[in-house]
Amino acid sequence: MADKLIYGADYNPDQWLDTPQILSEDLRLMDLARLNSATVAIFSWASYEPEEGKYDFSWLDKVLDDLHAHGKKVILATPSGARPAWLAQKYPEVLRVEESGVRNEYGVRHNHCLTSPVYREKTRQINEILAERYGRHPALLAWHISNEYSGECHCELCQNAFRDFLREEYHNDIGELNFKWWNGFWAHQVTSFEQISSPKYRGESHVPALRLAWARFVSKQHISFLDNEIAGLRKFAPDVPVTTNFMRLYKGIDYAEMAGHLDFVSWDSYPDWTNGDNTGVAAGTAFCHDLFRSLKHKPFYMMESTPSVTNWKPVNVLPRSGVLELGAVQALAHGADSVQYFQWRKSRGGHEKFHGAVVDHEGSEHTRVFRDAARLGQVLERLSGVAGEMQKAGAAVIFDWENAWAAEGFCGYFENGRDYDGECIKWYQALWEKNIPVDVVPSDADLSGYKLVIAPFLYMMKPGVPEKIRSYIENGGAFVSTYLFANVDRDDLCFLGGFPGGGLREVFGVWAEETDAIEDGARVLVEYHGKTYEGDTVADVLHAEGAETLGVYGNRFYKGSPALTVNGFGKGKAYTAAFRASEAFVRAFVGDLIEETGLRPALPFAVCPGVSAVRRGNDLFLMNFTDEEKRIETGAAFFNVASGENVGPELTLAPSAYVVLRV
Ligand code: GLA
Ligand code: ZN
Repeated sequence: MADKLIYGADYNPDQWLDTPQILSEDLRLMDLARLNSATVAIFSWASYEPEEGKYDFSWLDKVLDDLHAHGKKVILATPSGARPAWLAQKYPEVLRVEESGVRNEYGVRHNHCLTSPVYREKTRQINEILAERYGRHPALLAWHISNEYSGECHCELCQNAFRDFLREEYHNDIGELNFKWWNGFWAHQVTSFEQISSPKYRGESHVPALRLAWARFVSKQHISFLDNEIAGLRKFAPDVPVTTNFMRLYKGIDYAEMAGHLDFVSWDSYPDWTNGDNTGVAAGTAFCHDLFRSLKHKPFYMMESTPSVTNWKPVNVLPRSGVLELGAVQALAHGADSVQYFQWRKSRGGHEKFHGAVVDHEGSEHTRVFRDAARLGQVLERLSGVAGEMQKAGAAVIFDWENAWAAEGFCGYFENGRDYDGECIKWYQALWEKNIPVDVVPSDADLSGYKLVIAPFLYMMKPGVPEKIRSYIENGGAFVSTYLFANVDRDDLCFLGGFPGGGLREVFGVWAEETDAIEDGARVLVEYHGKTYEGDTVADVLHAEGAETLGVYGNRFYKGSPALTVNGFGKGKAYTAAFRASEAFVRAFVGDLIEETGLRPALPFAVCPGVSAVRRGNDLFLMNFTDEEKRIETGAAFFNVASGENVGPELTLAPSAYVVLRV
């Protein structure tokens, strides 16, 4: 990673090779917008290898040299995200097979088999060629590996690899697999690994452990595909950092695991910003930023964002000026070391020609979007001091990919609205609204540094996790569990002996005897501190077995029984909020937990509700995501790094306005 903030965009010069005047205009305009980097050649394979084994890198040589001459850093992509037609035609095995068993034809992108030895060989080869040619180029900053890895393949190669994966997972013991998959149910015992295939709607779709194993396998195939790409690059460019761009909370890959294979994390951020109140959108986006920072506890790149609109939402509303700038600044506040766009220039044709870009089809710097981007370029130069800085969080929310697969996949209780993401974001938002710094971590993370850990809907216990939770609490931590907590192990086998399982019944001092699903539109009521709060969707019927009852149900047949409990265990506290709580409850309860645990926002003065305050290094970001003006008493004058002026002791933030105070 660079030691400065990166301001850049996806740049596709190979679409404009016939119009060199546009390419030189690009350089002039990039200077004007103060871009200091470009992400190049993401989908360029056919442009530099037009026929198998025939290469023409002349255009890319020139692009890199020209960018370098203009002082720009280059993030150079590997091309595996979209292959040339000749490659698919000659080696059909590289194309993906759908769940139906039908092989895709050539087309679109992300359409490759994850296992195909030919595709792995071809991608590794082209990566070696790129690394050998450009690995020492002075402009090269990092490798952008492929693009938004995603999807799965059901071809025979993948089926065989899946069986090998299962052999390893279950110690080559079909008896172990039958037991862990509970295959005695419906007489589904298998007698050899050869009898197992990927889950399919017209085949085996009702074995939860198979679906989990398949999700793990697909994730691992992506990671080993990535490793293969990295090996090609490292051979000639061992010191150039590698990343690949993640997609928000995409579930097809365990990003927490993949992050371990990258030098730094990057992600593509396309929030549904509106021209009204953006509080909810901002909380969800902050959650993602904090997650991606926490994956490596390192700054990350915001590899893509749009400078105006996307072209793929059902309705692509133009954001007014200021909304996107605030989103960019928010990324920095939460740990991004870059603001990057998709895309630099609108393509003239193709699927994405109406996607926002810094440079419009009109072509000049005299557009609203260009002016906004150029203004942000100036601001980023002033804010460059935050690069590399890390915030320290005293609270954590657990967000876990394997748990998501299990919690969203089982059959029972309630079919719709599992919404694991939404649940995690709801609890996160209550901390975010109070400006408490939060890490977002997987369930097997080291929790020891946190005062408070919240684990919404943590249904699955990965091996070792119950022990970690236990020792975290024993050593003084506060841990909040919710409904359906610790019901199953990693193969979706229910714990016996009462929920929560894994030895946690004793730690939390409760037994969740039954689980009630709440009819659509109905509410479960909870009395807490003299107020009545609502919950919906799901509620565990709880017995306090040593835990203190903090709140009780206010309706349904279990009225009066515990809904919220706390158990002192060792030096810490184990909380159970046994129902899907409304935002109002979560806000009230989290407020009390903040008091109880002594968590504090890192602010030298109080800010009014609705202002998001985030400290990074010496800079305090105050951001107004609401559609109302906000007044803040800072008590003294502060230097606003973003504008280069002093502000305070009173300041007013218009909707979508922000300041960055040096403290
Ligand atoms: C993704 C892709 C880009 C582009 C954008 C459009 O994030 O990585 O190539 O398609 O979406 O928003
Ligand atoms: Zn395949």
